[in-house]
Amino acid sequence: MLAEKHAERIEKIFAKYPDKRSGVMALLYLAQEEYGWLSEETLREVAELCDIDPTQVQSIAGFYTMYSEKPKGRFWLHVCTDLPCALRGADDFFSALCAYLGLDEHGGTTEDGLFTVEPVMCLAACDKAPMLQCNFHYHENLDLEKVKALIEQWRAEASRDDGVQG
Ligand code: FES
Repeated sequence: MLAEKHAERIEKIFAKYPDKRSGVMALLYLAQEEYGWLSEETLREVAELCDIDPTQVQSIAGFYTMYSEKPKGRFWLHVCTDLPCALRGADDFFSALCAYLGLDEHGGTTEDGLFTVEPVMCLAACDKAPMLQCNFHYHENLDLEKVKALIEQWRAEASRDDGVQG
């Protein structure tokens, strides 16, 4: 439970705002960090902490692409396919990336659970397309070869981490 495990962080979040409801986005971020994604149960937990209706929390979580209401891969890739990026080849880049990872043209999560690929709207790096963010870190001016190198780097990182833990 967030309330017990992160009591101090939650208190600090609430201290920044005039009321509890204003801390909802920060608490959603904390909840996602803790659980990896936002289940209905988690949304209810956040709603209770912020003293607001769960449907309000759900509408916020559903609006922002930084929140995920379903489990995602260890590397969460957001590719901007909005118009300015599309004019610089982001659509083709997105399709090529999906094909490289064995995903269909809509993206999704790889079978090994390592990568989730999703198209998103503007990430404010329009002049550096094609671009993506991986776990909220930007990678810009990409092409298929560059992103393949990144994918292999992340795969190696994951297997190194698994080796250390195992
Ligand atoms: S339109 Fe893609 S970053 Fe702005």
